Order: sequence, then structure tokens, then C-alpha cells
Amino acid sequence: MAPTKQKLPPCSKILSTSRAEDSEGAKPSRITDRLTTATLLRLWELAPPKIDLHNVKLGFRRADDVSYSDLDDCRSIVKHTSYDDYKNSSHGWNEKHKMREMEDPNMLYILVRSADGSDATFAPSLPTNILGFISFMVAKDDPPYEDVDVVYIYEVHVGDQMRGKGLGSWLVHVAEHAAEMAGIPKTMLTVFTSNEAAMGLYRHLGYRKDDASPEGRRVRGRVIQPDYLILSKLGGGNGGAFSGRLDYA
Ligand SMILES: CC(C)(COP(=O)(O)OP(=O)(O)OC[C@H]1O[C@@H](n2cnc3c(N)ncnc32)[C@H](O)[C@@H]1OP(=O)(O)O)[C@@H](O)C(=O)NCCC(=O)NCCS
Repeated sequence: MAPTKQKLPPCSKILSTSRAEDSEGAKPSRITDRLTTATLLRLWELAPPKIDLHNVKLGFRRADDVSYSDLDDCRSIVKHTSYDDYKNSSHGWNEKHKMREMEDPNMLYILVRSADGSDATFAPSLPTNILGFISFMVAKDDPPYEDVDVVYIYEVHVGDQMRGKGLGSWLVHVAEHAAEMAGIPKTMLTVFTSNEAAMGLYRHLGYRKDDASPEGRRVRGRVIQPDYLILSKLGGGNGGAFSGRLDYA
């Protein structure tokens, strides 16, 4: 049977993935057990962004362990950076949907905050000490590969002052490393084609159009290209970013 292309909102895959945890509990727990703050610090040492580690604090949490106020800050960050892209797309902006997705208990977060919690903010109009974050979860690949686990990256956001220093790349590399820890060879994500920075980031990191990405639609003799792409990267998780191997004994 020909693969069916799912129409999925950018930076989102599926609304409810709680089955993923029930049926494949071992895989997410291989990530949650091992991705400690100490691991994050080690991964920072192995491929450091051009940011002084003394200025930031790194944290890894499951969504149900992230405070409501931090989750709300993350929602505000997504709205701040991406509202226009959503609004101008065929999907529109749906805040309830976004919050439900962000609260999914299977969602995993790496939060980068200012170390002293003082004047650093994500953006001048967004006073939060979260300076960057990534969210991802173990999910099923799209048909016809639906029985295969992937690590799906939902959000990557870096604050104004932190951009261009390799933090976005580092966050994606950590998600790829999480995939490797779980024995999952593929990471996936969805990106608006209008988002030049994100398209540049993912291209730079070796992401390519996935088979599940929607094709252009022919409408009255014209081909309408989709406003988002599904990208993926195969192979060994970190793609060499963390050349030293961590010992998880
Ligand atoms: C996309 C984003 C996460 C990139 O974060 P970052 O920390 O600045 O990225 P990096 O410094 O790791 O950049 C790595 C590469 O990505 C590409 N890139 C980054 N910003 C870019 C831009 N504005 N335009 C084009 N390419 C860009 C470049 O190839 C860059 O490599 P280089 O520095 O050697 O040129 C950041 O711009 C952001 O938070 N944007 C708003 C939120 C968003 O759109 N998130 C993605 C959708 S969920």
C-alpha cells in the first residue's frame, strides 16, 4: 500500500503519544535514566557552544517534571519566535493544541537558563531566564514505517543574545545523542519552509527531506508546494559531534 502522507503541524508530530511510553517504556527510560545534568555538562565539554558555561545552567526534564511556569515560558517563547510562521501557514496558530503537545508527559526538555537568573532574558520583550530549549520525544515514524521508533524533535529555540554561537546545534546534537542512547538510529523534525534560520540550521547539521514529507499538490494546473517539510537524519545518533564516548555503566 502506498504510504499515506500525514498532514502534521510544523514542529509537531502527534498529539497523543502516550502509547509510545506504554509499549516501549525501555527506550524513553534509557534516555531519562542517563541524560543527567552531569551528562549534559560532559556533552558541553565535548563540543562547547561559544558561550561561557559559567553564564548558563543546563537541565534535563520530562514534561511532567517541568514547572507550570517554565512550561508557560516555553509556550511564550514558541509564540514569540514562531507565531507569524504558524499564522501565515495553512495550519494557523492553535495555542491550546500547542500547550497540550508541550505538556505531553512523554515530552523531554533540555532547558538552558541564565546561571544567576538575573538580567538575561530570551528577548527584550520576553522576560524569562530560559535562554534556549529543545523538546523531543520517542515516537513512531510515519507510515509505512510506523512500527519504527524515532526521536522526534518538536521545538528548538535560542534567545536573541545567544544566537549564532552554536547553541541551537548543540541542543540538536544532544537530542541525537539521546536517540543513540536509546538505540534509535533516526531523528526527525518538521520545519516551516519560510523559517530560513531553522532551515539553515538543519541543513548545516545534515538533515534531509524525509520520505514522509508532503509533496506539492496540483491544483488547477499549478503545483502548490507545502509550507512545511519533514526532515530526518539517520545514523549513529550524534553524527560525530561528541567524539568522546560517555560511559553509562
Ligand atoms: C533556528 C535557531 C534555533 C538557530 O539557533 P543558533 O543557536 O543561532 O544556531 P547555531 O549557532 O547553532 O547555527 C548553526 C548553523 O545554522 C545555520 N543558521 C543559524 N542561523 C541562521 C540564520 N539566521 N540564517 C541562515 N542559517 C542559519 C548556519 O548554517 C549556522 O552555521 P554557521 O554559524 O557556521 O553559519 C534560532 O535561530 C532560533 O531560535 N530561531 C527561532 C526559533 C525557531 O525558529 N526554531 C526552529 C523551529 S521549531
